[in-house]
Amino acid sequence: MLTGKKIVLGVSGGIAAYKAAALTSKLVQAGAEVKVIMTPSAKKFVAPTTFQALSRQPVYTDTFDEQDPSQIQHIDVADWADLVLLAPATANLIGKLANGLADDMLTTTLLATEAPVYIAPAMNVHMYSHPAVLKNMHQLDEWGFRFIEPGEGYLACGYVGKGRLEEPLTIVEVLENEMRKSQLLSGKKVLISAGPTQEKIDPVRYFTNPSTGKMGYALARQAKALGADVTLVSGPVHLDTPQGVKRVDVTTAEEMYEEMLRHFHDHDLVIKSAAVADYRPKVTYDHKMKKSPGDYAVEMERTKDILAELGARKEHQYLVGFAAETQDMEEYGRQKLEKKNLNAVVVNDVSAEGAGFGHDTNVSLWITKSGKSETFPLMSKDELAERILKRAAEEMSGDDV
Ligand code: CTP
Repeated sequence: MLTGKKIVLGVSGGIAAYKAAALTSKLVQAGAEVKVIMTPSAKKFVAPTTFQALSRQPVYTDTFDEQDPSQIQHIDVADWADLVLLAPATANLIGKLANGLADDMLTTTLLATEAPVYIAPAMNVHMYSHPAVLKNMHQLDEWGFRFIEPGEGYLACGYVGKGRLEEPLTIVEVLENEMRKSQLLSGKKVLISAGPTQEKIDPVRYFTNPSTGKMGYALARQAKALGADVTLVSGPVHLDTPQGVKRVDVTTAEEMYEEMLRHFHDHDLVIKSAAVADYRPKVTYDHKMKKSPGDYAVEMERTKDILAELGARKEHQYLVGFAAETQDMEEYGRQKLEKKNLNAVVVNDVSAEGAGFGHDTNVSLWITKSGKSETFPLMSKDELAERILKRAAEEMSGDDV
């Protein structure tokens, strides 16, 4: 899977930098072309000549050391890369990347590249659990950077715990797996809706629901990792757009309806994970409503059922809906699948512990028009997203897995 792949290996200044030499060799043996960029502190651990000899390529250490006047080195290397691997990634490098800093050859290249970036951290066990490091890693994860987590074991600082650089052979295997995965939806266009909608009653009040958009954003992030061209129609949420995903912001159910219909015709896989309001106030006031004594009733009208409309217009698309249930999941799920002409439905058990709105995990049932049903146990929304996309991709390609 790595044959002919152009890999930029970013080496930062930790004791595990010595392992990056073995990693370079293994990547080259796997058929990859490897260009190494070292931070100034990495050079204090290993000499650039080591990487030059192992990669048979120039090693980059200084943004201003421009060898060829016809090129701008960091842009050229950034564009050249099929993938970027940071190993070892120190807490400092992770911090810079999470905050958009670019003060050396490696960090400037990282800001300039559109290639997927894999991060293999290595640091002291206490640094690894520092809130600043965790926050930076969380930020990068939300943007769609992939982590190759360090194993537990003896650390050079004398502690035992998490912080060790993953073994070079395992890193190569992870990359090979990721390359295989990234072909699954390659060339496919995926349209996803996420988050809640807001239905206004006056300029300062609206009806909404507690959807955070986490499920839809996980789907967008994972679809991108599987090689798809992804469009995300998003209600108002507090999440960052995954890297490389096209995001269209909407507020109301009506706006979501318009955007989903506008993009529907040229997409191959459409997943409707948004929590759309079923009703909206019949009248929206231009001015703030004044209170008066006694009760007040708001008259509500139905919004359009976007999913049902997409089902009615479906041609070549593989259409996936979501359903929230507390009982008889299979029965209600199948009813929804048929009523809305879906290819598959993900029924979420919102009564299960740790699942549903605002949680990071979900328990669900995958039901297809082709007659399959599969229980997905409690897992993270990113894992669930990958499972859903893989199952959909298998069905779309006709594989019976
Ligand atoms: N949906 C939609 N447009 C709406 C309402 C819902 O597209 N106006 C979509 C959601 O994005 C989700 C699915 O429909 O994919 C949920 O179906 P729905 O029938 O609303 O299911 P529940 O919310 O489970 O509703 P209920 O059980 O009350 O019928």
